[in-house]
Amino acid sequence: MFIFPLFVSDDPDEETPIPSLPNIKRFGVNKLIPYVDTLVKKGLRAVILFGVILKKGVKDDIGSAADDPEGPVISSIKLLRINFPDLFIMCDVCLCEYTDHGHCGVLNEDGSLKRESSVRRIAAVAVNYAKAGAHSVAPSDMMDGRIKDIKLGLIEAGLAHRCLVMSYAAKFSGNLYGPFRDAAGSAPSLGDRKAYQLPPGGAGLARRALLRDMQEGADAIIVKPSTFYLDIVSDASKLCRNYPVCAYHVSGEYAMLHAAAEKGVVDLKGIAFEAHQGLVRAGARLIISYFTPEFLEWLQV
Ligand code: PBG
Ligand code: ZN
Repeated sequence: MFIFPLFVSDDPDEETPIPSLPNIKRFGVNKLIPYVDTLVKKGLRAVILFGVILKKGVKDDIGSAADDPEGPVISSIKLLRINFPDLFIMCDVCLCEYTDHGHCGVLNEDGSLKRESSVRRIAAVAVNYAKAGAHSVAPSDMMDGRIKDIKLGLIEAGLAHRCLVMSYAAKFSGNLYGPFRDAAGSAPSLGDRKAYQLPPGGAGLARRALLRDMQEGADAIIVKPSTFYLDIVSDASKLCRNYPVCAYHVSGEYAMLHAAAEKGVVDLKGIAFEAHQGLVRAGARLIISYFTPEFLEWLQV
């Protein structure tokens, strides 16, 4: 049920704590396996990979580094597959970690997103992750048409039966992604993501986006963030009743609970259980959570 986010960078020997995400580190490929090994031994079953580019001059206008065969994501997929044959490997698919402008797609002259080329590029990245061995690809950009292009790309590559397309279908633009953007170095250099992520009040838009992605061929759907959007998780579990529904307990939610615990306002373990039980109660059956390592300890019998 738990999927653990892993940040992997292009500095092979990196092992750096992320100040705004307590207990979470960014790893280079040389440090990843020993860390994941300790978690697999405690029962970890699934991870979602995020690539991070630290080297200067590597980011460009189309996010070429996303699927560089020597880059952090493709190298990590291969390493994890070899070392942990039973681990389920998901990859977040987006361009914001790899573009020099920090947006999730390819831009027009005026700074708006060029939908067609963005979607084509995102689909190419997803297919390359699947070719490298990813069990699932999860596009997080929210643009119209990307699920369809990814699915067609996977069918054409003969991989559609081997790679689950898990769509971030209802993803809200808001204030809860700050620590992630610190970790991934993916804050937009200009503007925000309000043109392609949902406004916090948009319940109808969220339901339409869920329907859109099912129609385009998604195999599973993600709602994100989670705690402030439990009505959407609940809507998704009804609207997408034949699909696995995943809730993403995002970086800002994790950081807030840690901050409250540090202030003595709540007990960390107690509030983490309550938060995640809320997600299950609302209908989520998969949870992407930075608390995964703690739950592996807390749930030991
Ligand atoms: C990339 C992406 C983001 C997150 C997951 N994939 C950041 C964003 O959209 O700005 C956020 C996850 C988190 O905050 O934990 N598009
Ligand atoms: Zn993005």
